[in-house]
Amino acid sequence: MANSRGGFTNKIGFIAAAAGSAVGLGNIWKFPYETGANGGAAFLLIYLCCAFLIGFPVMMAEIALGRKTGLNPYGAYASEGNKRWALAGLFGVISGFMILTFYNVVAGWAFGYFLQISFGDLLSAENFGAFFGGYVADYTDNMIYSILFMIVTAIIVARGVSKGIEMAAKVLMPTLIFLLILLIIYALTLDNALDGIRFYLVPDFSEINGKTVYSAMGQAFFSLSLGMGALITYGSYVSKNDNIVNSAVIVTLADTMIAFMAGMLIFPLVFSQGMEPSAGPGLVFVALPGIFQSMGPVIGKVIGGAFFLLLCFAALTSTISLLEVPVAYLVDEKKWNRKRSVAILAGSIFLCSLPCLLSQGAVEFFTDFMHYEGSSKSFLDLVADLFSEIGLPLGGCLLTLFIAVKWKTSQLSAEIAIGYPSYQGSTLEKYVNIMITFICPVILGVMFITTLLQKFFNVALF
Ligand code: PFF
Repeated sequence: MANSRGGFTNKIGFIAAAAGSAVGLGNIWKFPYETGANGGAAFLLIYLCCAFLIGFPVMMAEIALGRKTGLNPYGAYASEGNKRWALAGLFGVISGFMILTFYNVVAGWAFGYFLQISFGDLLSAENFGAFFGGYVADYTDNMIYSILFMIVTAIIVARGVSKGIEMAAKVLMPTLIFLLILLIIYALTLDNALDGIRFYLVPDFSEINGKTVYSAMGQAFFSLSLGMGALITYGSYVSKNDNIVNSAVIVTLADTMIAFMAGMLIFPLVFSQGMEPSAGPGLVFVALPGIFQSMGPVIGKVIGGAFFLLLCFAALTSTISLLEVPVAYLVDEKKWNRKRSVAILAGSIFLCSLPCLLSQGAVEFFTDFMHYEGSSKSFLDLVADLFSEIGLPLGGCLLTLFIAVKWKTSQLSAEIAIGYPSYQGSTLEKYVNIMITFICPVILGVMFITTLLQKFFNVALF
């Protein structure tokens, strides 16, 4: 089955693509502002627990289900369960579509920043906050860049699994890591950098409440690309003798390490520039230009431009995986050919992204779209909350429930053991089975209810 649909050339190809999916705007744009808005180190700690204790077993389960069935999320649930369970897969397919409608917009900002830093006069702005506000409100540039982003994503996905997805991921990730390390070293030399490190690494447990926990869980799922079947889909292209445990460990470590590094870069910057860490989604776009400005006009333009360009590439390997999920659904279930599926989906996603694009100050109706969680929310906030913060942990809950009651952990173990024979009987197997059968469905289910109540009905359970 996997062969006729294409597949990764080897294990490294899969790891590069899965890590490419995981590492993206979630690590460098979303993680720092979520950490900043939720109290710093205490959030980091809970986030790491969510990623390793819950995210990691869910990741293995997604890859295993994908590889066993060789299908998209809908098909995977349908073939191992039934049509009713397949609705959980369909929810994942829809989530991929919807997440892409806002992800693409933010990716467009990153591309615009690359151009504005390297070829425009962003670095001579006096107030980067005001610049960012004006930039996202001006929809002409944003519209062009998000179309461009969608087109590049579509071309790569249309080229198929090994030629497009794998190649894009292999070169760009190491370059991004290298540049991050250089910038962190530089940031640590700035005045007040230590205050930033303290905020980021010394936890204040009085900061923890319901919102800290569900935001950390939502962030872990978003960052690891879990809960919507992206890794079921990628798993369907993996060869039988690959070691799933090994791959999942590497992807989880790479992803959390890059998020952690992004924090090590941003918080020293935020504190050295006297900014508020809780500034929200503009945090990275406002804090980073400061460091590039301080490097002088020439070096700042080169390094700043390179950084935002790499951020675009990191976003691209994620948009590819987001688009691949609905594409695989149409190819497998509706028997459309890949190119047609890509063209129709990319076009529709772009159209559906317009309200998000216009919700950052361009159109009042979408900007001040709803009021919840004690503040005014844009259309983009709403889509992100529904499909990412609430939707992904819910998807994880449904997956673990599915395995617990329908597919059974024995099948999960058997699939994982194909590429890793000593898995069966190991302590890791026991841990994964307990997590998947009891702990994950309960924690993720409770989290789903808590998030819904606290966000939209102003009821805090804890
Ligand atoms: N993990 C990506 C990021 O951190 O930017 C976003 C993402 C990709 C979420 C794919 C979900 C997904 F299925």
